[in-house]
Amino acid sequence: MPKQEHIFPSCLFFLLSLVTLATLVNTKSTIEPCSNSNSCNALVGYTLYTDLKVSEVAALFQIDPIALLTANAIDISYPDVENHILPARLFLKVPISCSCSDGIRKSVATSYKTRPSDTLSGIADNIYAGLVSADQIREANSISDPTVLDVGQTLLVPLPCTCFNNTDNNLPAIYLSYVVEPVDTLAGIAAQYATTITDLMNVNSLGSPSITPGDILSVPIPACASNFPKYASDVGLVVPNGTYAILASHCVQCSCGPGNLNLYCTPASLAASCSSMQCRNSNLMLGNVTAQSSSAGCRVISCAYDGFVNGTIWTTLSSSLQPQCPGPHQFPQLVAPPSGTIIDSLPAPAPAPSQAGGGGPTTPKSSIVPVTGLLPSSSPANGPIGSTSDASLLASPSSIFARATVFYLFIKLIVSMVL
Ligand SMILES: *[C@@H]1O[C@H](CO)[C@@H](O)[C@H](O)[C@H]1NC(C)=O
Ligand SMILES: *[C@@H]1O[C@H](CO)[C@@H](O)[C@H](O)[C@H]1NC(C)=O
Ligand SMILES: *[C@@H]1O[C@H](CO)[C@@H](O)[C@H](O)[C@H]1NC(C)=O
Ligand SMILES: *[C@@H]1O[C@H](CO)[C@@H](O)[C@H](O)[C@H]1NC(C)=O
Repeated sequence: MPKQEHIFPSCLFFLLSLVTLATLVNTKSTIEPCSNSNSCNALVGYTLYTDLKVSEVAALFQIDPIALLTANAIDISYPDVENHILPARLFLKVPISCSCSDGIRKSVATSYKTRPSDTLSGIADNIYAGLVSADQIREANSISDPTVLDVGQTLLVPLPCTCFNNTDNNLPAIYLSYVVEPVDTLAGIAAQYATTITDLMNVNSLGSPSITPGDILSVPIPACASNFPKYASDVGLVVPNGTYAILASHCVQCSCGPGNLNLYCTPASLAASCSSMQCRNSNLMLGNVTAQSSSAGCRVISCAYDGFVNGTIWTTLSSSLQPQCPGPHQFPQLVAPPSGTIIDSLPAPAPAPSQAGGGGPTTPKSSIVPVTGLLPSSSPANGPIGSTSDASLLASPSSIFARATVFYLFIKLIVSMVL
């Protein structure tokens, strides 16, 4: 008996400290310092909080609904596809423009108009699915009293993004800002996106492979790079493997993969009037390729897209000698617009490819900061941008819930031991 009386209070104390720890966790976000004002292409991973029309999801991020669909290889030839209702819990890759703001890569092109009964944490955790924190919205909009939000107020919603020169291990890549879910492991994410744990750890400067729900990771996705002139409005285009991009006022569509990572553009003819898509001094149209084999190899002439300049589609005719004539072009597979109920599941098991070439030490590309509000922009500009901060901050509701569950089970265990 005395023994038990002694155990109980110390257990209680232990549990109390656990509870304190459980609500104070570090969620982290990968940031990329930047120095020039160029913007670049990136993706954010977004999980729908409720059933939403394609146009409603696009409006949340102020992007073109067609661009949202093509970035997810969803068939846009479906009738009235912009009004198609996408199911809650669907995961989409949202193409965004990534700026350089206050010395770090950040997307600052998204705003949200408040509705009745909105709260900052509701906007951050539900509507934007953890891509932003309530504190970050509060700070970006200089809100002094977060309990008072005017209905119809337009709030800037800063979103995470990284570009890392649109390369990963010297190959073209686009980076997806991914919010870690309770079921995720680094190995699972690596397998899902055909990368390696080592690469994810390098890109995100992780000291260990452990991740916390609510963390925002930068996940590299192989992509096709463009080489448009700098005065083209779509300069710097990168298209992720297996997807499409729609350009030049819906006149041109470019795709990437699956066979190789060469950008391939053709007329899209979604728009009523498009300027000429014929290559100068030739009868070839955008996307046309002619091949003629000879003893020296295969002479390939192609008419390619070279950017949208002052409302004009630029094309370029190129000729090359290749060892073999190319076969017919393979396009990435399109999927029908998703419908129905999404059942949450673990990422499909896939063998994680092992790191090729083995590892010399890799310089970390980035640094980790807490998600909640403490970006370098808000701190005094002393010390190098992007040191690691360990400040403990409030967890996201999902991780609090997960921890609360563990805590509850633990209490049950202790109580059953004591009684
Ligand atoms: C950026 O990428 C280009 C090719 O896209 C490459 O030539 C250049 O070396 C890269 N710069 C850095 C700093 O990695
Ligand atoms: C591109 O995606 C296809 C499947 O969609 C895959 O087979 C191929 O390996 C990918 N290419 C790269 C370079 O990751
Ligand atoms: C050239 O491209 C146009 C538009 O994509 C297509 O309709 C036509 O069939 C192509 N011609 C050849 C010879 O490939
Ligand atoms: C685009 O148009 C502007 C003015 O209309 C002109 O100054 C500029 O030279 C044009 N750019 C190109 C690349 O043609």
